[in-house]
Amino acid sequence: MPDPALERVLYTRNEIASRLRELAAEIRQDYAGLPPPILIGVLKGSVFFLTDLARELAMPLRLDFLSISSFSAAPDRGRVRIEKDLELDLRGEHALLVEDIVDTGFTLRYLLETLTARQPASLRVCTLLDKSSRRLIPVPVHYRGFEIPDRFVVGYGLDYRQLYRNLPELGILRRDES
Ligand code: IMP
Repeated sequence: MPDPALERVLYTRNEIASRLRELAAEIRQDYAGLPPPILIGVLKGSVFFLTDLARELAMPLRLDFLSISSFSAAPDRGRVRIEKDLELDLRGEHALLVEDIVDTGFTLRYLLETLTARQPASLRVCTLLDKSSRRLIPVPVHYRGFEIPDRFVVGYGLDYRQLYRNLPELGILRRDES
């Protein structure tokens, strides 16, 4: 039974798991022969995705996390601040940034600029969800779980006012819940 807060389930836990296996196969192949990469999780939305992906990858890797706050309303729209920084030094490392969702692209642009300045050997982006129809800033996405329509989604890490992150599926939030 899907959660009653959802208007519609977009992806069940089985569909998510199956897509993750495909993504992991792609990533494993691309990083074969390289030193263990650092998977960078953006708290809190990417936590479930990152932990499932990391286990599915089944290869040597390191994990680190950062947390940010962003401002979605004018006049600070697009302003992002790091609240908790990484513990590992990225210089010379292969880094894979793991995001929950790329929407306008403001957050990702900030993260890419900030992390690139630390001179990693490589920096790629893996996002569970992509709402590319809403993109305002062009940003690179190397690995994408699902392309989704312009609706507000929750579950599998994504929240509305810090709720619904622990739903096992991904779904569109009912309008009367938001
Ligand atoms: P961007 O900077 O506009 O790309 O926004 C990215 C951030 O907005 C994500 O990391 C989420 O925190 C939030 N976000 C955007 N769309 C959704 C959604 O449909 N559900 C939950 N959070 C969302």
